[in-house]
Amino acid sequence: MTTSTLHLQVLALTIFLVCAAAVTPASAQPWPGCPDKCGDISIPYPFGVGTGCARDPYFELECNRTYSPPRLIVFTHRQHLLNLSLADGEAIALINARRQCYNSTEGLVNETSVDRAVTLVGSTAYRFSAERNRFVALGCPNMGYFVDTDGYYVSGCTSFCRPSSQKLVASSTGCTGEGCCQSRIPTDTIYYAQYIQTFKPGEGDPILRGGTTACRYVFLADAEWFNSGYRGDFNRSDDFAVPVVLDWAIRNVGNCEIAVLNRTDYACRSANSECIDSTNGQGYRCRCSMGYEGNPYLDGGCKGATPKHTYH
Ligand SMILES: *[C@@H]1O[C@H](CO)[C@@H](O)[C@H](O)[C@H]1NC(C)=O
Ligand SMILES: *[C@@H]1O[C@H](CO)[C@@H](O)[C@H](O)[C@H]1NC(C)=O
Ligand SMILES: *[C@@H]1O[C@H](CO)[C@@H](O)[C@H](O)[C@H]1NC(C)=O
Ligand SMILES: *[C@@H]1O[C@H](CO)[C@@H](O)[C@H](O)[C@H]1NC(C)=O
Ligand SMILES: *[C@@H]1O[C@H](CO)[C@@H](O)[C@H](O)[C@H]1NC(C)=O
Ligand SMILES: *[C@@H]1O[C@H](CO)[C@@H](O)[C@H](O)[C@H]1NC(C)=O
Repeated sequence: MTTSTLHLQVLALTIFLVCAAAVTPASAQPWPGCPDKCGDISIPYPFGVGTGCARDPYFELECNRTYSPPRLIVFTHRQHLLNLSLADGEAIALINARRQCYNSTEGLVNETSVDRAVTLVGSTAYRFSAERNRFVALGCPNMGYFVDTDGYYVSGCTSFCRPSSQKLVASSTGCTGEGCCQSRIPTDTIYYAQYIQTFKPGEGDPILRGGTTACRYVFLADAEWFNSGYRGDFNRSDDFAVPVVLDWAIRNVGNCEIAVLNRTDYACRSANSECIDSTNGQGYRCRCSMGYEGNPYLDGGCKGATPKHTYH
């Protein structure tokens, strides 16, 4: 049995992290008296570090300075955040991939100890972005899929390798099914439990007689990061984490129309702000009106932008 090798360029993640840290938007205002940063990451209200700094417990974050640089952790669901954005309602989390490695007779020899399940269940803030993420299965043979909280199939894909005597095509075409496949996920996803289904080698259908890789992986990942970083190169047996895009919104009410009815609870506090309905799950977000910028979630948060033209 020969082993086809594939390599993923982890370098891309490093570049991604550096870029993510470099931006400090003007809108990153915390609740008065609360920390505005954790390491290089800005923490704008409705997010906050410490009690009384966030809109509700789901927007509460923990800044763990045991790590260098400090780590930003979602208080309720323990996700490690790399970035937060008020403008597009996104947050980027770093989540472990699931790995299983096999010997030459397809016996499972080792696997990641991380939980199969990644959960946001009960969150009134976050959803996994259906628009920005892809579910990925790497290595072969590998039917990667994930299930919901009831254990039912949600999404997945199958990756086989061609016989190693033939050139791997993955490097030139990207993640298209040989050695790597990807699938879209539905909106309103708050949970995924990841599975790797393998096949007995050399039996049955000819597609099962292709090459195999010692290790196989499944994970949800930021499609832009993955598809720009993937070079058909993957050859690792260690654990790794990947960036996953989360969509956040104020979700204690269904949409803007309902939200405006309760002025005490309405999150768009600033004058010159407006409400936009969430496109992933129920809820809404706020933005400063045209010509204003800043933090719409704070009283007086939206400030008149410097006019570019003077009219007479
Ligand atoms: C920071 O992380 C370390 C290691 O995971 C943990 O032991 C510690 O309790 C955390 N500190 C806080 C303040 O959460
Ligand atoms: C990180 O967030 C800032 C806004 O808070 C945004 O401008 C930037 O593009 C984000 N970086 C990534 C890599 O998403
Ligand atoms: C898991 O198994 C693979 C393949 O046999 C091996 O290369 C790798 O070192 C093992 N990893 C761990 C953490 O034991
Ligand atoms: C592969 O692993 C299986 C199960 O762990 C074991 O029964 C089998 O003997 C191993 N085969 C080889 C060739 O090591
Ligand atoms: C992939 O890893 C295997 C086992 O560690 C090694 O023999 C092989 O040379 C590696 N392939 C490449 C292209 O680095
Ligand atoms: C408005 O929101 C506040 C704060 O969440 C809540 O206590 C109150 O019951 C709400 N009022 C109505 C009429 O729903």
